[in-house]
Amino acid sequence: MSLKTIIVTGGAGFIGSNFIRNTLFKELDWRIINLDSVTYAGNPANLADLEKQMPERYRFVHGNICDGAFLDKLFADEPINGVIHFAAESHVDRSILGPMAFVETNVMGTCRLLEVCERYWQEKGRPDDFRFLHVSTDEVYGSLGDEGHFKETTPYDPSSPYSASKAGSDHLVRAWHRTYGLPTIITNCSNNYGPYQFPEKLIPLMILNLLESKLLPVYGDGKNVRDWLYVIDHCEALLTVFAKGRPGETYNIGGGAERQNIEVVHILCDLLDERLARVGEESSRNLVQFVTDRPGHDRRYAIDATKIKRELGWGPRFEFESALTETVDWYLGNREWVDYVRSGEYRNWIEKNYNGR
Ligand code: NAD
Ligand code: TYD
Repeated sequence: MSLKTIIVTGGAGFIGSNFIRNTLFKELDWRIINLDSVTYAGNPANLADLEKQMPERYRFVHGNICDGAFLDKLFADEPINGVIHFAAESHVDRSILGPMAFVETNVMGTCRLLEVCERYWQEKGRPDDFRFLHVSTDEVYGSLGDEGHFKETTPYDPSSPYSASKAGSDHLVRAWHRTYGLPTIITNCSNNYGPYQFPEKLIPLMILNLLESKLLPVYGDGKNVRDWLYVIDHCEALLTVFAKGRPGETYNIGGGAERQNIEVVHILCDLLDERLARVGEESSRNLVQFVTDRPGHDRRYAIDATKIKRELGWGPRFEFESALTETVDWYLGNREWVDYVRSGEYRNWIEKNYNGR
């Protein structure tokens, strides 16, 4: 069977790892090159078993998307059929404390990658079936009030350095389609949860604090709403868009599972209480601590996913409470992974972010 070679950037991170694992077992004619610079959030060990199991279909390459010479060499050495671009600095709180890394990777790095892709695509005679799929976030649209949903036509209105840098990258990707004809597609997705998520984001942070009976820092009044999507649903949506999406288009991806943060934290408390047999006074809900709000904290996100459903036939398969239960059990069953990613850098980060909150 002849294989198509797809570069996945950021495949050592949360969504990228899940995407590569899921895809290699589904798309048997895919060969994936995982290009990742391995920041604090990247862990190539997530996929080390695949390197051994299927070396002809999975290759890890350590490199930075900001490094044009490195990208040129990679594209010169390999026949590339497409790029799925996950690599990014991805955590809002980090972007507040240190925005430059976000501009460097998310804006400059994406621009560098587009340049190299476009040059390669021109040299190969502008193949119609080449795709550059840019994985972005619903946070580019800003904040909703109590009503309404983000549509693909909602104006961009980002609030944080993270979402502003992702908005910048989206504009560049769209410009590369309009100006040079590169077959790019953008997806804007809501909050993901599932295995392999770095424990700085709400759900894994709360699970691990619960395990260790630490306080659960809920920002502001806890009533901010996120539209949660299980990571495997996101991976399946991306495969659908890559196969059937129209170049130049944007597709919103969402789980249709809006929950207030405090509701999510309470569900996690109850799940952990069940598993750890905590009752009465010991109930984990007592660990909830409302802390100073995040500056510029968006109140509500909610996706209108009608377009991807209508045009491409994708909808989420997983139900929030049951997939969240599976996620809790994954973290409980994978303490080695947790200990590994929480070493060093993570502890420094927790101290900096939560100190004084
Ligand atoms: P993550 O932080 O877990 O992983 C990011 C990966 O990118 C890491 O492996 C990191 O090492 C790599 N990386 C960072 N800078 C790099 C660089 N300069 N060169 C090469 N690799 C680099 O992020 P994630 O949660 O998996 O998110 C992946 C993508 O999906 C991001 O673009 C993010 O904006 C988008 N997204 C995430 C969510 C979510 O809920 N997590 C929702 C919507 C969209
Ligand atoms: P997060 O997982 O950081 O994702 P995002 O900011 O990209 O939506 O946060 C999800 C929500 O949870 C967000 O409203 C902020 C809130 N939050 C807390 O209340 N406490 C925390 O410790 C964290 C990390 C997040």
